Amino acid sequence: MRFSSLLAGGLLVLTQTAAAIELDVDSYDSIKAATKIIARELANGYWDPYSVHGVPHPPYYWWLHGAILGGIVDYWAMTGDDTYNANVTVGWLRGVSPSLDLQPDEQSFSEGNDDQGFWSIMSMDATERAFPETEGQQEMQAGFLEITQTVQNLQAGRWDDQTCGGGLRWQINPTNDGYLYKNTISNGLFFQQSARLARYTKNQTYADWAERTYKWMREVKVIKDDFYVTDGTWLPDCKKFTEKRWSYNYGTLLAGCAAMYNFTNGEAYWKEQIDSLLQATYATFFHPESGAIMEIQCQDSNTCNADQPSFKAYLSRWMGYTAQVAPYTYNDIMPRLRTNAKLAAATCTGGPSGTACGLKWNTGPEFDGIMGLGEQLSALEVIQNTAPWVAPVGFVVDMDNGGTSKSNPNGTGTRGGVHNRNSQYLPYRLRDYNITLADRVGAAIITLVIVVVFTLGARFTMIH
Ligand SMILES: *[C@@H]1O[C@H](CO)[C@@H](O)[C@H](O)[C@H]1NC(C)=O
Ligand SMILES: *[C@@H]1O[C@H](CO)[C@@H](O)[C@H](O)[C@H]1NC(C)=O
Ligand SMILES: *[C@@H]1O[C@H](CO)[C@@H](O)[C@H](O)[C@H]1NC(C)=O
Ligand SMILES: *[C@@H]1O[C@H](CO)[C@@H](O)[C@H](O)[C@H]1NC(C)=O
Repeated sequence: MRFSSLLAGGLLVLTQTAAAIELDVDSYDSIKAATKIIARELANGYWDPYSVHGVPHPPYYWWLHGAILGGIVDYWAMTGDDTYNANVTVGWLRGVSPSLDLQPDEQSFSEGNDDQGFWSIMSMDATERAFPETEGQQEMQAGFLEITQTVQNLQAGRWDDQTCGGGLRWQINPTNDGYLYKNTISNGLFFQQSARLARYTKNQTYADWAERTYKWMREVKVIKDDFYVTDGTWLPDCKKFTEKRWSYNYGTLLAGCAAMYNFTNGEAYWKEQIDSLLQATYATFFHPESGAIMEIQCQDSNTCNADQPSFKAYLSRWMGYTAQVAPYTYNDIMPRLRTNAKLAAATCTGGPSGTACGLKWNTGPEFDGIMGLGEQLSALEVIQNTAPWVAPVGFVVDMDNGGTSKSNPNGTGTRGGVHNRNSQYLPYRLRDYNITLADRVGAAIITLVIVVVFTLGARFTMIH
């Protein structure tokens, strides 16, 4: 997919003269119109809820299907457009799998705690937005809240205090490379999930898990004392770190701290964490002049794999969430999201449709020739997260105020979280890197060839 996308990008430079998507961030109608176009491009190009992976595979993997569903749930909540709701349910029922634990057989070799976590956070979104559940879904006990609670129970059961004093490992299967790594996104999603379940249900057990997980990350220093957030830490002793900084790690911590701040009715500790994480996020990822969010680790060096262009989507989503449940941050966060909404919209002139969005928001206002699932999702989320405050939609509910999803705090799925190992699928992470790199090189060469052929072709025609 990325291969042909880049190919299209190459052709595009030669053929396209498209108008940018109009966006006036002061107008709710304008936000709705812009996100409608961007969502359509996302759904048409990258999403098939009936397929096994839900996304064009490879280079995109199953976790991104959960990420898309989360973006579309929020899209519905923030714009009121239910065009895609039926397909959200289709995709959800596939992801949940017959075992009701967000561990489908097809993913059994490769699924990590972070993959499962992305889906579970999506179902928490659906729970907190009161996304409509179908009767069939309820009958098969695949309601959003009970599945999030199930994942919570399974992941709490994987908490490993035999090494490094706690934490979740990245991979679930001991045979996978990554079983020896405790990464920030797995722990950060578990933290956020625990915190949001605490806020929603008021059950102290979830709050205890949130606090335990967050404090473990501070203590072991995957979050350093100056709030530099690393990618994760290696067994056996968690003294060695992968230092790369990714925007979604900052985002998931932020959202979890905001939910805990709300749950504790404004406890000073959580406010300090929010404030420090926000400062670190701005200093690390926001361009000092334009204010554009940059995925610093890979964006300007053109080394992003197929996952990474989507990370800005989650930072945006979770900054928006933070502004909702810790409203004192609103005046700080919202101007920055609005700036980025404008910058992102200005890049959406790519692809055959002329509405594909680019990767780099700091080099605009123009399409940078790089399109893909993550680019499209990021633009959608940063724009729609400016919406809730210009119209009375998009609020979060809880169990006692508007929440309808059924609770089942004891859920564990039908096989108690054990993976079925009889799978043809191999661990994908390493394969992913190889494919992406080869694709990019290949695509760059082919784009060059096409440019040359077109240029020669044009001359040839002219001579005739
Ligand atoms: C729902 O998904 C199916 C299968 O990919 C697709 O044909 C259909 O157009 C989708 N519906 C919407 C509204 O996007
Ligand atoms: C918790 O979130 C609700 C809903 O957004 C908000 O009204 C309330 O003020 C928040 N609590 C705190 C302490 O900020
Ligand atoms: C709170 O959550 C825990 C852990 O999932 C569960 O065991 C307990 O039954 C829950 N309590 C209530 C009142 O729902
Ligand atoms: C969950 O399990 C606990 C402990 O076994 C039990 O006390 C509680 O009633 C159960 N809750 C539900 C909702 O089934």
